[in-house]
Amino acid sequence: MALLKLVGVEKSFGGVNAVDGVDMEVGQEWVAVVGPNGAGKTTLVNIISGFVKPDRGRVLFKGVDVTRRGPAERVKMGIVRAFQPPSSPKRASSST
Ligand SMILES: Nc1ncnc2c1ncn2[C@@H]1O[C@H](COP(=O)(O)OP(=O)(O)OP(=O)(O)O)[C@@H](O)[C@H]1O
Ligand SMILES: [Mg+2]
Repeated sequence: MALLKLVGVEKSFGGVNAVDGVDMEVGQEWVAVVGPNGAGKTTLVNIISGFVKPDRGRVLFKGVDVTRRGPAERVKMGIVRAFQPPSSPKRASSST
């Protein structure tokens, strides 16, 4: 059984189809989602973590349908979103 499974997930903002029919299965491996700006990556992550509810489709975690569960419930199940920590270069100039 897949650890995480998405079936026909869709999300629109007004007339923008941010996520348009995503099917995916993730097991124990690392998975990266790549795409240009506005492709829908963040929206997809938000749907998986529960911050955004999809218009259509289902999200399953360990076989349990979590589509309508909020982020707090999902955290208890083991779905955690980590944000990229901000970092800045040690020096803003190349002059010595
Ligand atoms: N809350 C929102 N309200 C309206 N439109 C949104 C909202 N969130 C995302 N969108 C739109 O949905 C589309 C997908 O955006 P999203 O942020 O998921 O893309 P992304 O792949 O993460 O982009 P980036 O690489 O710039 O981070 C874009 O057209 C964006 O403007
Ligand atoms: Mg993004």
